[in-house]
Amino acid sequence: MVNYSDIKNKYKIEVKKTAQSELAYLTHFLHAESKIENEGYKAKVKKYVNEGLIQESILEEPYFQQKLNLNWDVPFPPVKSDFTFIDLFAGIGGFRIALQKLGGRCVFSSEIDKAAQQTYEANFGEVPFGDIKEFTSYEISDLEIDQMIPDHDLLAAGFPCQPFSLAGVSARNFLGMSHGFHDQDQGNLFFDILRIVKVKRPKVLFLENVRNLKSHDNGKTFSTIEMMIKELGYSFDWKIINSESLVPQRRVRTYMVCFLNQKINFEFPEISGDPLPLKNILEEKVPETFTISDKLWQGHQNRSRRNKERGTGFTVKLADLEKPSNTIVARYYKDGKECLIPQENSNPRKLTPRECARLQGFPEEFILHPSNSSAYKQFGNSVAIPVIFKIGKNIQKFLVKE
Ligand SMILES: C[S@@+](CC[C@H](N)C(=O)[O-])C[C@H]1O[C@@H](n2cnc3c(N)ncnc32)[C@H](O)[C@@H]1O
Repeated sequence: MVNYSDIKNKYKIEVKKTAQSELAYLTHFLHAESKIENEGYKAKVKKYVNEGLIQESILEEPYFQQKLNLNWDVPFPPVKSDFTFIDLFAGIGGFRIALQKLGGRCVFSSEIDKAAQQTYEANFGEVPFGDIKEFTSYEISDLEIDQMIPDHDLLAAGFPCQPFSLAGVSARNFLGMSHGFHDQDQGNLFFDILRIVKVKRPKVLFLENVRNLKSHDNGKTFSTIEMMIKELGYSFDWKIINSESLVPQRRVRTYMVCFLNQKINFEFPEISGDPLPLKNILEEKVPETFTISDKLWQGHQNRSRRNKERGTGFTVKLADLEKPSNTIVARYYKDGKECLIPQENSNPRKLTPRECARLQGFPEEFILHPSNSSAYKQFGNSVAIPVIFKIGKNIQKFLVKE
């Protein structure tokens, strides 16, 4: 039995820059279960073959993972698989924690941000691939996509929300269009998801986005998303859900679930119950460094007063510990204004990164990024895991192997 941490030291698996696809190939290879699944990664890990760990003969075993005999000494090791999924725009793996808990096995992950990749590797023992466009750009053929991304049952993605200038264009036309046209919209990451869907045809798509995706760009963004997914032959169900009865945070998000088998009658779970109080997740002893400075506190108050007089904008309020917190956003680390914890005889304090992790339902064993500002940003971008878990449970029913 070999520990992942030993392999990590031996092969220097450490995210130092974003474009380290070699490490992504190696770690994905180590996670792959069968020969078929690792076919796309195998060629890229030749360098490591016969260096002690990976023997040429093992590569030919149909279920070579058992022969590698790896001990995954990371907080969230791969699980015995009921279904497979890919984790796109993976962040720090909020989807992955929920889906693994449901018995899913991740076969591919992609995340462009270096710090998020570092957190991901520390927790799952896998370095995500970087820019998804390396797999989906228009120089890459369908056949290549098919070979590079393993087959999977579920595609998970909390994709960045960007405007669409393509309302009214059909998916089929879009995907078959010339370069010039694509270039106008090459920044739009939804189309990268679509490209993968078109080639890989997963059984289900599980997407998450901001609350106002529905009203974004006068509703054009959402109707384009719905139309394009339906044109690829999928059903399209969506629901706006507030997480506050599952975690003590008001986080209202749009969730979309799309099945290839359109006969499936999917229903979102009923998520109801009393809002949870913020006091439940607070740490007992918090270092003074989290207390905001006089200057910042004064600034918040001055801005609030001006905004109040004008009747517009944000007014700072201390958090009510009996109620859920406001939504934690990526910029929270800057001034903490979304949630300031009152303290006796001192300025209020920011939440700690661990408290932010709890607000998103991350388990205690989750390893935080060592830089606080990166950790705050990562939790602000992440999903509320218990919501993903509940929706995932309703999806899972339909993924039982025939
Ligand atoms: C809203 S966050 C998703 C977070 C994730 N659901 C989680 O639980 O942590 C979107 C992520 O997409 C990543 N991203 C943006 N552009 C990307 C690209 N071209 N390729 C891969 N990832 C990208 C961002 O760095 C960000 O972490």
